[in-house]
Amino acid sequence: MLGRGCVGLLAKTPRGTEDVLPKESRIWQHIEGQLAQIFSLFGYKEIRTPIFEETELFQRGIGEATDIVEKEMYTFTDRAGRSLTLRPEGTAPVVRAYLQHKLYGEPQPIKLWYVGPMFRYERPQAGRSRQFHQYGAEALGTQDPATDAEMIAIPVELFRRLGLDTVQVEINSIGCPQCRGGYQEYLIETLKPKADQLCGDCQRRLQKNPLRILDCKNAVCNSIKTGLKSILDFLCPECSDHFESVQGYLDLLQIPYVINHNLVRGFDYYTKTVFEITYSELGAQSAIAGGGRYDGLVEECGGPSVPAVGFAAGMERLLLTLEHRGWEPPTKETIDVFIAGVGETRSAVVELAFCLRRAGLAAEMDYGDRSLRAQMKTANRLNAAWTIIVGEDELRDNKAVVRHMASGRQEEVAIAKLEGWLREQVRTGCRGTKE
Ligand code: HAM
Repeated sequence: MLGRGCVGLLAKTPRGTEDVLPKESRIWQHIEGQLAQIFSLFGYKEIRTPIFEETELFQRGIGEATDIVEKEMYTFTDRAGRSLTLRPEGTAPVVRAYLQHKLYGEPQPIKLWYVGPMFRYERPQAGRSRQFHQYGAEALGTQDPATDAEMIAIPVELFRRLGLDTVQVEINSIGCPQCRGGYQEYLIETLKPKADQLCGDCQRRLQKNPLRILDCKNAVCNSIKTGLKSILDFLCPECSDHFESVQGYLDLLQIPYVINHNLVRGFDYYTKTVFEITYSELGAQSAIAGGGRYDGLVEECGGPSVPAVGFAAGMERLLLTLEHRGWEPPTKETIDVFIAGVGETRSAVVELAFCLRRAGLAAEMDYGDRSLRAQMKTANRLNAAWTIIVGEDELRDNKAVVRHMASGRQEEVAIAKLEGWLREQVRTGCRGTKE
């Protein structure tokens, strides 16, 4: 037992992290089940990468001048003096794995998906935490704009299955390094004379990463930006054609979208298509998915020149969205059978529960020495389809009473036949009406 003093200190998750309790993990499991199905239908295979990586992977991959690398990484030195970082996102690790295992030597594209915790030192608020979970996909080794559309279609399909049809898809193209360079020069030239009116962050961005000025929400910066030309006016023919094709595919798949000229996203690895999916009711943290193409990242990480595209989406934000809409997982939690013991029947109950579980039936029993009435209450709370009542008299005759919870119908069944009898009831769908 913890002493009083310890409770305040120890009985609390670190700031920006949360437990997922059984009530919620049921919802997580439902969503993860849907995800695994959808990814499989779209031809993606699961990849699991380590929770931490060499710090340099993120510095090089995400970009030194990004908020994530500058301010948000959980970086530590291990006992051998290596700098390691808890992964703030999944794309750079997937690229590292693609290179390490020479997946570029296999038939392309390589289509991978993942789900797991990510870590960013951000100011926690609703929908923004320090440990959060992303599910996402990466397709490496293809320039086909159909894969860009696929990366939008996959989360949209998940949202559709969960009844979320009011999400907004925003897309943009930030071109290739060549055409983007022209736009960056234009931004610097146009904004430099007004630099002292920009917010502190944007003054720094003007030097290091001018494109990021476009998604600053500061009111003064916004007014300075009005009338700026769009990056789309600067795209080279190849980037422009690619963007047209992506839009064509989205139209074909009947996925509504809007073009947001100011969408640039917070990673240096993007080229051409970038996108975000938002659910506006979430307020400030409304992005429930984001992604884009990153044709230069594999090469930047020391590999061959391989085009790629991907997306990632926040699990907690999806849960908040579902909660906001009053969504309930479609199936109730149930068990097949509860075993209630009356009198000196303890060993028989334990043995029976174990045998039934081994036979593939979800079986629960009483762990205290409680009255039959209390045990029946537990069986109801657990939504048991059946309850086996083991009494001393019945046990002497090698029998037990089996009660169908929905109808109240009871019958005696020989203990030796119980497993087969129950399995048959469950197999034929006779689980009662409690599902
Ligand atoms: P991102 O936009 O940084 O992209 O994150 C994707 C999603 O993760 C966001 O839309 C949001 O739902 C969720 N998310 C991000 N930060 C937090 C946080 N602090 N708390 C809760 N949820 C959060 C990426 O990470 C890219 N790797 C996506 C990608 C994959 N691009 C290409 N491939």
